Amino acid sequence: MTSSRPPTLGFIGGTGPEGAGLALRYASAGHRVLIGSRSSERATATAEGINQRLGQDLALPRDNAAAALESQVVLLAVPYVAQQETLPALAEKIGAKVVVSVVVPLAFQSGRPHPLAVPGGSAAQEAQALLPGARLVAAFHHLGAKHLTDLAHPLEGDVLVCGDDAEAKAVIMALVEELRDLRAVDAGGLDYAQPVEAMTAVLLSINRRYKAQSGLKITGLPSAGLPVRQAGSGHRPSAGSGHRPAGAGG
Ligand SMILES: NC(=O)c1ccc[n+]([C@@H]2O[C@H](COP(=O)([O-])OP(=O)(O)OC[C@H]3O[C@@H](n4cnc5c(N)ncnc54)[C@H](OP(=O)(O)O)[C@@H]3O)[C@@H](O)[C@H]2O)c1
Repeated sequence: MTSSRPPTLGFIGGTGPEGAGLALRYASAGHRVLIGSRSSERATATAEGINQRLGQDLALPRDNAAAALESQVVLLAVPYVAQQETLPALAEKIGAKVVVSVVVPLAFQSGRPHPLAVPGGSAAQEAQALLPGARLVAAFHHLGAKHLTDLAHPLEGDVLVCGDDAEAKAVIMALVEELRDLRAVDAGGLDYAQPVEAMTAVLLSINRRYKAQSGLKITGLPSAGLPVRQAGSGHRPSAGSGHRPAGAGG
């Protein structure tokens, strides 16, 4: 990958509202997006829908395995309950790629959202265990599909990014900040993904109460000197080196 060409993004579960919404936003930012699915019909319909909206052929239908293999950065956008059965078959295709999980372990009880207890800590940590070679990052949990899908709606707020691999985290933080008005905040190692994932239930509960689409904003940070700003000053972190720097956690 050269620094001038945006990385191709592969969406596992790219036909759902969240994956398709992120794919739409990143295709509109110039990325080639591979819409992974178990169904070629659903992948084709989603890719065509994105291309029609943008007037460009940047979305391509794929099965999940091809989306994993042909992309430079992989986005996991399946339901939490589907991870266990979906990811092992993709481990070899993904190898040492940067993988970002948007997965939220969530259940609705009497219509109210609640975080699920996750034996492996968080969905992202369980994904890391299922994809041992991959460089897992957790992000995007607090961006709802409704706003992602509405290109006229500016995205706003902070995206909390967790991961143990500094280079992978910098790749995803730079990706976040390609979307106008979003700020990436380094929220620590992958072991911080659990509260970040669980916070989504709180935001959904607020949304119900206020009939809103709430988001997160972290206050008190310096306006300059955030890690992504440093990493992003004229340099796009490489998605494809497969290099694993040490000591990048929380
Ligand atoms: N929706 C939101 O606003 C939102 C916001 C933040 C985070 N998230 C998280 O993002 C992820 C995706 O959300 P979503 O609302 O797009 O989910 P979804 O519609 O329930 O599922 C996404 C896609 O995953 C695939 N899938 C479903 N069940 C599967 C299974 N058992 N095995 C393999 N693949 C399966 C389906 O694609 P195919 O049938 O085409 O294979 C489906 O279109 C979830 O983990 C969610 O917690 C969602």
